[in-house]
Amino acid sequence: MKKNMIVALAAMTLWTGANAQNPVKLPTAKQEGGMPLMEALHKRHSERTFSNKAISDATLSQVLWAACGINRKDEKRITAPSAMNKQDIVVYVCRKEGAWKYNAQQHSLEPVCKEDLRKYVAGRQEAVAEAPIMLVLCSDHTKFGEVGSSQYDIMGALDCGYVSQNIALACTSLGMNTVPRMTMDQDALRKALNLPSTTQLLINHPIGYPEK
Ligand SMILES: Cc1cc2nc3c(=O)[nH]c(=O)nc-3n(C[C@H](O)[C@H](O)[C@H](O)COP(=O)(O)O)c2cc1C
Repeated sequence: MKKNMIVALAAMTLWTGANAQNPVKLPTAKQEGGMPLMEALHKRHSERTFSNKAISDATLSQVLWAACGINRKDEKRITAPSAMNKQDIVVYVCRKEGAWKYNAQQHSLEPVCKEDLRKYVAGRQEAVAEAPIMLVLCSDHTKFGEVGSSQYDIMGALDCGYVSQNIALACTSLGMNTVPRMTMDQDALRKALNLPSTTQLLINHPIGYPEK
């Protein structure tokens, strides 16, 4: 009981801090254990239904770290390979309380807005907006220098695919459902997240525990 209260208070602290528009440090991600990789590959599949069970900050921290967190601190390199090591993929976290940008180098969340953007992420697949967390993956083309080259479009899409698969395997390992989706209301999200034209919205991941 006492332990549950402490966990609940810690979670409240994190999201209250985030709502105050300050970057919020995520708990250190557990980087061991979980399901063996071969079992996760065996079990990975797309699911489009989610229970409303909350996802803890510790679990979100693990998923974001698996997505594109730092795995070699000295070199500032990440869990996903990245064309020319440009680390162009930006992950936005959308939940009921608002939206945050994941800062991989700091393993923190930077508040973006207080609006629930999940309906925009769901787009015409309205039912997936039930997921407590939706991650939106974008490629920041300014990382490549010159903008507008089809070569950079390909690099951004490939980099995004690696991050997306990391998310899918992490969710499988942690017993959660997800699906990679290109469907979303791009215009509404671009506006709400204040994305410049040099940022490409590529794919999203609704995430949640399976329905009973
Ligand atoms: C690039 C890409 C875009 C996708 N877009 C959507 C989508 O918009 N909506 C959706 O429900 N599923 C989407 N999917 C999921 C696929 O439908 C799914 O991966 C496919 O049916 C194979 O099923 P599996 O993931 O269970 O193996 C997408 C998958 C990829 C790789």
